Amino acid sequence: MKLLEDRIKKDGVIKEGNVVKVDSFLNHQMDVELFLEMAKEFKSKFASHNINKILTIESSGIGIAAIAGLEFGVPVVFAKKSKSINIDGDMYTAEVESFTHKCKNQVIVSKKFLSSEDRVLIIDDFLANGCALQGLISIVNESGGTVEGIGIAVEKGFQSGGRTIRNLGFHLESLAIIDAMDAATQSIEFRQQE
Ligand code: G4P
Ligand code: NA
Ligand code: NA
Repeated sequence: MKLLEDRIKKDGVIKEGNVVKVDSFLNHQMDVELFLEMAKEFKSKFASHNINKILTIESSGIGIAAIAGLEFGVPVVFAKKSKSINIDGDMYTAEVESFTHKCKNQVIVSKKFLSSEDRVLIIDDFLANGCALQGLISIVNESGGTVEGIGIAVEKGFQSGGRTIRNLGFHLESLAIIDAMDAATQSIEFRQQE
């Protein structure tokens, strides 16, 4: 999506360690007009799916997912990260490892808000190694619902997550895929899509 790629080029800051900061418009301050355009793009990319729920994970996925929920006209649920070991039977749970933060989190969703009736679009801001996504997929599987699609704002195409998820057969759409970036020159290369 050219609008998002241009914005990343303009306002993204590339850090050492293959991290791109997008906190002036995506995951700290939020440009909701951009989110609305992203939501419309998701709507058209997943038009062939009969989606009745959106699932994301706290915290940075929530804003993007909420605006997408408006566009799709469906409820939005976010998985919560929880440190506690004692989680009762009212929750679906998955373990998610974060490479960036070097820690493990339990991710939980109440059984009240996800069931076998649900045809889910998973949304998140970043796809790197795909650990967060694998956790969300496993939660949908546990509920008996179906993952209709996965919509990502920024995929880091040089990390393994996207390839793994596509190889599993999921309909994954990333609005911008970064194939390479360099902190020294602040240069960034996007994958050509369609
Ligand atoms: P993975 O889920 O794809 O395996 O990603 P990884 O563990 O590597 O990333 C951990 C966190 O860092 C995730 O957010 C992810 O969205 C974010 N992230 C990964 N690469 C980048 C990047 O290049 N730039 C930015 N800005 N973020 C990146 P999180 O810690 O789960 O949570 P939150 O920030 O949404 O609260
Ligand atoms: Na995230
Ligand atoms: Na994040």
